[in-house]
Amino acid sequence: MIFSRFRGSSNGLQPTDPNAIIHAIGVVKTYRTGTAEVTALKGIDFAVRRGEMVAVMGPSGCGKTTLLNCLSGLDTVDAGTITLEGRDLAKLNDRERTDYRAKRMGFVFQVYNLLPVLSAVENVELPLLVSGVRPKEARSRAMAALETVGLTNWAKHRPAELSGGQRQRVTIARALVNDPAIVWADEPTGALDSHTAAEILELMRELNQTRGVTFVIVTHDPGVGAQCDRIVRMRDGQIVGEEIPTAPAASPDAMVADGRAATIAR
Ligand SMILES: Nc1ncnc2c1ncn2[C@@H]1O[C@H](COP(=O)(O)OP(=O)(O)O)[C@@H](O)[C@H]1O
Ligand SMILES: [Mg+2]
Repeated sequence: MIFSRFRGSSNGLQPTDPNAIIHAIGVVKTYRTGTAEVTALKGIDFAVRRGEMVAVMGPSGCGKTTLLNCLSGLDTVDAGTITLEGRDLAKLNDRERTDYRAKRMGFVFQVYNLLPVLSAVENVELPLLVSGVRPKEARSRAMAALETVGLTNWAKHRPAELSGGQRQRVTIARALVNDPAIVWADEPTGALDSHTAAEILELMRELNQTRGVTFVIVTHDPGVGAQCDRIVRMRDGQIVGEEIPTAPAASPDAMVADGRAATIAR
């Protein structure tokens, strides 16, 4: 199958370029359910630089979630190559892929995905315990992650006792607890009011800038896109364009102070 595609989104990077943390070429994904076939990704070229914060935007059903699931190796692809930190995902076996994901990736979803019977700290430490970290160390790392997101005092509370924004902070803490290189976020602000959404985004931006975590954020929200280094536009299973958001209204001093000047200058 040949699909026309927008070529700019490889970002000028080669798969083996040490600056390319995510590199995808010609990714095709078709869902087959009974007799129906939906080709959700029609030949995607996409690359992300280490430390970049990229928004993927486009109408509902255009393939954003599918792209995220395929790039992160949660789902398989029908064609194309995905290289993460120089590793060809298809060449890893299931265990290696799961292991790589557990060590190097974090996930933040709109549905908070927290276990209701566990406290905040128990939710955050769970992925560490699953990957064999000792309970004591897992607890101290989970507490450190909760501190990073400003929830130290809420560690013992269950999700039902937390606000939407606090729950999303717990999921961010959980995504960060393994000190990942890449965080994938699917509509992370989709269930939040605009004020809380702005706070969550600010937190992700800070983690991006202070820790160099690479973020790929699927979003409907133009306000989220505006805060990212780059917006990639999708439509009907294809990438149709990309843009560098114009700087938010702020004084040059303020932009230097929050470290965004380098982004704007690019
Ligand atoms: N598990 C699935 N089985 C069959 N079709 C799917 C599945 N997931 C997504 N799709 C279809 O693939 C297309 C892209 O979906 P999705 O990636 O969820 O879009 P978006 O996240 O942009 O809303 C849609 O047509 C959707 O119906
Ligand atoms: Mg989606």
